[in-house]
Amino acid sequence: MFASATHSIPEQRSVPRHLAIIMDGNGRWAKQRFLPRVAGHKQGVETVRQVVKACIERGIEYLTLFAFSSENWRRPPEEVSFLMNLFVTALEREVGRLHSNGVRLRVVGDLAAFEPRLIDLIRRGENLTAENKKLTLTVAANYGGRWDLMQAFNGLALAYPEKAGNYTEADLEPFLSMSYAPEPDLFIRTGGEQRISNFLLWQLAYCELYFTQKFWPDFDEAMLEEAIDSFRMRERRFGRTSEQLTAGPGAVRPAPTFAGSSGNA
Ligand code: IPE
Ligand code: IPE
Ligand code: MG
Repeated sequence: MFASATHSIPEQRSVPRHLAIIMDGNGRWAKQRFLPRVAGHKQGVETVRQVVKACIERGIEYLTLFAFSSENWRRPPEEVSFLMNLFVTALEREVGRLHSNGVRLRVVGDLAAFEPRLIDLIRRGENLTAENKKLTLTVAANYGGRWDLMQAFNGLALAYPEKAGNYTEADLEPFLSMSYAPEPDLFIRTGGEQRISNFLLWQLAYCELYFTQKFWPDFDEAMLEEAIDSFRMRERRFGRTSEQLTAGPGAVRPAPTFAGSSGNA
């Protein structure tokens, strides 16, 4: 079980332990070059390769990439099918290399919507790399934060029906699709939009957010370093005051339990 930002105060680090990225701007990158949108997705795979390498070099333990949202099915069918094929090719080409670099691959999302060939490649890649320890690379595909919460609520309710009405955050967390990872410390979104787009809704509760105008295919190691520098400058208070931070952990009192606060008001 990992520390929850709403239940304990996570350790302060100079490099994030878990980095989550919304890789956005592929289409605009291509448009700028008078190329079809999908050329941007193809180039984006190159950026993924570089960023994975840079994360390993920096000792980042978890990297989570948003590759396809539960809402991306609304795109033109040709683009959706290009993205599915790209996913297949990327897995075929990259899994061996990830494995030899000590990367554990995980894919989260509602995979049932994918072609059997893609599901099979995902499962084989996950199994092959399951014991690797250097970096856990999670690809969120057909993922939505609301989907994740709903499947977790339903899983919890089925597992412990007798506790209905009294579930706690700690009861829910093991049912979330990324229960194997700590909450992200740093979130990066490329492409200039400042929104979460239904990514990790639960886990981003206290995450440091970083937005850059750069399109994903242009993102590189130097930009990653800039984001980490920004992260280092942040004062992560988790509800406390700045003065308490300088006074040290002893200054924090446990949360009080108010009489009557547990009932259904
Ligand atoms: C992100 O780039 C990749 C996916 C959502 C699959 P976009 O395709 O959203 O690129 P823009 O935002 O249209 O430029
Ligand atoms: C978010 O990007 C999803 C991924 C990067 C996979 P979108 O481009 O789909 O987000 P919106 O639609 O602009 O919010
Ligand atoms: Mg976009």
